[in-house]
Amino acid sequence: MDKTKYVIQAKNLKKSYGANKVLKGININVERGTMLALLGPNGAGKTTTVRILSTLLNFDSGTVKVEGHDIKTDADKVRSVIGLTGQSAAVDELLTGRENLIMMGRLYRLTAKSGKARADELLQEFDLVEAANRPAKTYSGGMRRRLDLAVSLIATPPVIFLDEPTTGLDPRSRLAMWEIIRKLMDRGTTILLTTQYLEEADQLADQIVVIDGGKVIAEGTAKQLKSKIGNDRLELNFADTKNLEAAVKVLGKNVTETDEKEYSVSVAIKDTNKDVRNTLDILAKEKIAITSMTVHKPTLDDVFLSLTGKQKPTKTTKKGAK
Ligand SMILES: Nc1ncnc2c1ncn2[C@@H]1O[C@H](COP(=O)(O)OP(=O)(O)OP(=O)(O)O)[C@@H](O)[C@H]1O
Ligand SMILES: [Mg+2]
Repeated sequence: MDKTKYVIQAKNLKKSYGANKVLKGININVERGTMLALLGPNGAGKTTTVRILSTLLNFDSGTVKVEGHDIKTDADKVRSVIGLTGQSAAVDELLTGRENLIMMGRLYRLTAKSGKARADELLQEFDLVEAANRPAKTYSGGMRRRLDLAVSLIATPPVIFLDEPTTGLDPRSRLAMWEIIRKLMDRGTTILLTTQYLEEADQLADQIVVIDGGKVIAEGTAKQLKSKIGNDRLELNFADTKNLEAAVKVLGKNVTETDEKEYSVSVAIKDTNKDVRNTLDILAKEKIAITSMTVHKPTLDDVFLSLTGKQKPTKTTKKGAK
């Protein structure tokens, strides 16, 4: 077996559908035992990438290796080390949860006995024991996702692709899914996960690759991506309109955002100590009282929006309000 540290390696991956260039040269490297999150809006090319990396779809050019096996020449070996779940995976609607698991066990050539044992273990782990003997078509969205993931884990593959595992789930089911995914990570599984949720990438992933229009537009850790976007923000709250207006006046063009309903302003800060002190000094000199203040770090949402140029839904925002 290849002992390189990268379990999944894609170099200059390109794929077109007719004239539609869907992937325009994607590079992805996932280190052993880590999670890489592929982040991007609808149509960015996430599913296409995952389907290629998991041998389900041909590509035009580039190279892909999984556990050192070239995907073009050694697709069978690649298949033997991966599990796939998500938008493209198959759960048979007419079979029960348990039957789905047992069938997949057969596909992976587990003995009948160990297939059944593994199915029961997964039903337990994924909280599907009560629903185990009902056809999958009667499952809720969240149960279906859990079954989908359980099915892909029947043979405990060391590499897993998760294509938008939490899209459409309610917050509670999303948290439950995160817990399941964290358990996989604790086990040392190498994971490539796609998501449209920045928070999800922030919470789970070691490494993030942001794609848009079939190209990588940014990559790094959540922390690195956030620091690229730069400034922390100091939010100041006031008791009333009078204080708010006075503050906006004296802080002048340092103000990046004003919220007239909440009586608050935001000021961009580069050097936390110096800029916070300066801002408070200016207000103190004018005897303008604040009721509270908070320093905000940029979120991955800010990063994503600034990279893809898509606007955040605004509250009352005035640039450089006077
Ligand atoms: N079988 C296909 N034939 C033609 N075009 C396709 C096909 N599959 C995907 N595409 C196109 O490829 C592009 C990328 O699609 P893809 O499904 O990879 O996006 P995605 O990032 O997974 O989006 P989503 O968040 O909606 O799942 C889109 O423009 C889509 O229309
Ligand atoms: Mg998709």
